[in-house]
Amino acid sequence: MSFDLILFGGTGDLAWRKIMPALFQAFRHGSLPAGGRIIGVARDDLSDDQYRALIKARFDQVELAKRPSEEEFSRFAALLGYLRMDLSNPADYAQLAVRLQQRPAEVVVMYLATAPGLFTTVCEQIAVAGLNGPQTRVVLEKPLGHDLASNRAINTAVRSVLTEQQIFRIDHYLGKPSVQNLFALRFGNSLFEPLWRREHIANIQITMAEELGVEKRGKFYDSTGALRDMVQNHALQLLCAVGMEPPINAHADAIRDEKLKVLRSLKPWTPETLSQHVIRGQYAAGTIDGEAVPGYRQEPGVNPDSRTETFVALRTEIANWRWAGVPFYLRTGKRLAQSDAHIEVNFRPTPHAIFKSPQDCNAGNRLVIDLQPRDGLELHLLAQGADQRQDRGTPTLAPVQLDLDFDKRFGFERVGAYERLLLDVIAGRLNLFVRSDEQEEAWRWVEPILDGWSNDNHQAKGPRPYNAGTWGPSAASAMIARDGYCWSEES
Ligand code: BG6
Repeated sequence: MSFDLILFGGTGDLAWRKIMPALFQAFRHGSLPAGGRIIGVARDDLSDDQYRALIKARFDQVELAKRPSEEEFSRFAALLGYLRMDLSNPADYAQLAVRLQQRPAEVVVMYLATAPGLFTTVCEQIAVAGLNGPQTRVVLEKPLGHDLASNRAINTAVRSVLTEQQIFRIDHYLGKPSVQNLFALRFGNSLFEPLWRREHIANIQITMAEELGVEKRGKFYDSTGALRDMVQNHALQLLCAVGMEPPINAHADAIRDEKLKVLRSLKPWTPETLSQHVIRGQYAAGTIDGEAVPGYRQEPGVNPDSRTETFVALRTEIANWRWAGVPFYLRTGKRLAQSDAHIEVNFRPTPHAIFKSPQDCNAGNRLVIDLQPRDGLELHLLAQGADQRQDRGTPTLAPVQLDLDFDKRFGFERVGAYERLLLDVIAGRLNLFVRSDEQEEAWRWVEPILDGWSNDNHQAKGPRPYNAGTWGPSAASAMIARDGYCWSEES
């Protein structure tokens, strides 16, 4: 199948870091359909060869195993081209149309790896140039808007020139093999489904912790913050994956309908829950892997008085038959103690104890779905260990675990998130992309938090400082402790 992939923002950070390396991996794995063209688009004045040379230089910075050899690069480079465009100039879209018509392709992917402020213009201009026909698919990167109103405005503009079936909204977490394994665990196995409900589950915790700070994205991040950057999208998508009902089939809309129901069932915020169940933090200077790192306000591009949150922990509930009353805790932050993303499903204790159990709060039955850096599954149980201690005749149980490592089981050369998602766009598979109604519902739910923060002019109530290299502000532990639980690393 022939395809053209037009990469708007073709010299930008995302293109270098994620999209080009993913396209190369797909090419190396032989999964990129033959007969494709990849055309980078940006304002710089470059020839095709200069663009290829730039990409080659960037590839020298990717990890060795993913770096092309000279021979591989020259074959890959044959797919690459470049077009200089000013995205606000209609004449430049006409030029793009001419270039595409020189060799019409069965599928035309327009990947908008640009500032979101340009999404509407680009989509409108694509239509004016007659490039929005049924063979066109548009990929939109997050953030899609800044709040519900701006998200809706983008969706309305984009949908006025393209059908929903042509729009691929990326949430790269959905492309991770570990997240697909979560779907497989829940809907490809019968073992856990009878237990996957309020009668057996005490609470569910979703942690997405990063050791990295804001890197070179200080300016962008300072106007975004952790809630918009991670919670509105990635964390809520994980919450949907873990909380949704089994879809009637594996088609895109069946899956997206069920995710939407979860988002619609999230408990609405009240002034009390907003103040007690949402904790925001901001990292101060500290130590990561033995090295001193600056605080957020000292990062380049960040306002020295910034009140932007780099950490959020919150508690919510899915108000439906399956989950009523079960707390879901979400937590994400930069410059935390460890890079670690996982979901922990904590089961209820036995109804009547005939054994003594270890006292720490994480010693019960739990299923841990490791998302990264490891893709795995841990099932924590209690057993009669080697230590046969008896306390007044009652045996004491010890924690043990069953441990499954999918990377070892399936090999390290697994398809990465961007590679997988790009191949899905080319193939027209929407399963792992976000529909506009899901996205709007997620914005609707986070908006009261944003409003609460922006109306809070009391400096003392801004984000709570935490030292880089820790697990965030202690208020996050206090919040979960009020329910009698603790975060997974606090055992
Ligand atoms: C991106 C955020 O969407 O996800 C970044 O904008 C964050 O701030 C990144 O670092 C995390 O993704 P991953 O795949 O590294 O966990």
